[in-house]
Amino acid sequence: MATGYFFSHRHILGIDELSKDDILHILDTADSFKEISARPIKKVPTLRGHTVINLFYEPSTRTRLSFEIAAKRMSADTFNISPSTSSATKGETLIDTARNISAMHPDIIIVRHSFSGAPHMLSRYVNAAVINAGDGAHEHPSQGLLDMMTVKEHKGRLNDLKIAIIGDISHSRVAHSAIEGFTTMGSEVHVFGPATLLPKGLEQLGAKVCTSMEEVVRDADVVMTLRIQLERQNDPLLPSLREYSRRFGVSQKMMSLAKPDALVMHPGPVNRGVELMPEVADSTQSVILNQVTNGVAVRMALLYLVMGNS
Ligand code: CP
Repeated sequence: MATGYFFSHRHILGIDELSKDDILHILDTADSFKEISARPIKKVPTLRGHTVINLFYEPSTRTRLSFEIAAKRMSADTFNISPSTSSATKGETLIDTARNISAMHPDIIIVRHSFSGAPHMLSRYVNAAVINAGDGAHEHPSQGLLDMMTVKEHKGRLNDLKIAIIGDISHSRVAHSAIEGFTTMGSEVHVFGPATLLPKGLEQLGAKVCTSMEEVVRDADVVMTLRIQLERQNDPLLPSLREYSRRFGVSQKMMSLAKPDALVMHPGPVNRGVELMPEVADSTQSVILNQVTNGVAVRMALLYLVMGNS
């Protein structure tokens, strides 16, 4: 890390805004917080007296729960708002909702929304720090960071690795954050998926677009599969799920082309037997549950670091 470095971000909106030093600093901070979750009493007073609001306009299991656990383990007061039980059902706009929440003086708002850029817009209307928990098909920065933390733990580094990402790249905010993060850290990201689900401009982001499963998986250090996001597809862009599984599903046979110690990753939720075969998801190479564990540590680090810049 460069001498004189300090973490200057008030909001966490995307990995595209983070430098290599920022990423290393977040991962080091997460590493130092990780042991708290292994203690018999999993609580420190770091964020006592601070208010954290989870504003999730889309479903979530891992992200919402781990942000809430992270905040509670740091003694913050946490509150969850979902559209089905909020005044969004009565037609209130996101900006009005944000202004009203802001009037109650929260310290941090964590937001997930189907519109790309919603957290960026929110950050201009509220006094609180804003953390993006996934915006449309744009970014999911805390997921990208927990992915990098997991790879660093297992490989000891984040540079000079071949990261293979397979699936619905177009609709995947996870893929976009991973491409940004791993290329910033000096690894090569190779992507493959149905031609209809590979957006233009991937090369400009630093990814290499492959033309076959064999090409993307061969000699990979990490094989990351993505969930098919049927909820984001207005037109049928896929063959049948059976056909998808046959052509793009990661099987043991396919994994035999990767490095012997390659990691299997998936952001969850997994469509078992579609993008990832159950025997691969449950194999010794799979670090899917390590990703979830690291999600709590990364989110503790993010809450701590944005409060440091409040
Ligand atoms: N990885 C992820 O974002 O999972 P959730 O949708 O369950 O939060």
